[in-house]
Amino acid sequence: MSLTGHGPGAVRLRDLSFAFVARGGGSLPVLDGVDLAIPGGGIVALVGPNGCGKSTLLRVIAGLLEPARGEALLDGAPIDGPDPRIGLVFQEPRLLPWRSAADNITYPLELAGWPAARRRERLAALSDRVDLDPAVTTSRPAELSGGTRQRVALARALALEPEVLLLDEPFSALDALTRERFDLELLRLWHRAATTIVIVTHSIPEAVLIADRVVVLSARPARIVADIAIDLARPRTIEALDDPAAGRASRRIRAFLEDDDGEPTEHRTTAASVRTELAS
Ligand SMILES: Nc1ncnc2c1ncn2[C@@H]1O[C@H](COP(=O)(O)OP(=O)(O)OP(=O)(O)O)[C@@H](O)[C@H]1O
Ligand SMILES: [Mg+2]
Repeated sequence: MSLTGHGPGAVRLRDLSFAFVARGGGSLPVLDGVDLAIPGGGIVALVGPNGCGKSTLLRVIAGLLEPARGEALLDGAPIDGPDPRIGLVFQEPRLLPWRSAADNITYPLELAGWPAARRRERLAALSDRVDLDPAVTTSRPAELSGGTRQRVALARALALEPEVLLLDEPFSALDALTRERFDLELLRLWHRAATTIVIVTHSIPEAVLIADRVVVLSARPARIVADIAIDLARPRTIEALDDPAAGRASRRIRAFLEDDDGEPTEHRTTAASVRTELAS
């Protein structure tokens, strides 16, 4: 069964380039001619060395950064600012610490002017969708485990039923088994909603398990060095990784990554990226 190519949520990146303006006026090129077409309902995993520009690329797709050259399109129209059709989840769920989990999840609905009764209804549906125990929704983020915080962040990103879900290393802080469970839950969620998904990950098995295609990026400025189709049937279970096709794809991804190894950099949390998630 294929869910791709029919629904809305087609993302097209056309010759995208982006540079940050450095202090002192110089420029830091981060994206270099990125060209990518993702059909509606497709799942693409982005892998690449630390600091190559993956998060920046997601922020361009989310309409939070304007490309210096080229364009990003959603369903054929330019993305020119934050858009409720695009949901974003960051590596560390940037939840509002003073709000309960429930009020974090419904925050985008509040901003969109939904009345309280409708928000409560939607909260129940979202909690169910991401398998969040309703009992914990009264807790503040600091009282929740990392996995539960990720469920809350995911529920918040899904609140306005986006066509496109951008996930920036969403499960990297979870233990191996929890992470596998989240990967499979994400796939189940996708089967129900057929949302287009772009997921950044440093885990080759995670990329192979989830994606239709794994796009390998070079060291900064990021260029696409490979676009590898993952030829595994859906629905997938964890056993999919034992398939010889998964092994072959993993080896190819690794080879491209080793070919183009970047300088490791610290993961950055910037004020702009905090605003980003809150805006989404
Ligand atoms: N707001 C900013 N201002 C200036 N430079 C930035 C900003 N955000 C990121 N950078 C720089 O842009 C480059 C790409 O950063 P980005 O966060 O997109 O990389 P990444 O591929 O997501 O890395 P990682 O794998 O570590 O998450 C890095 O050199 C980073 O230091
Ligand atoms: Mg990043």
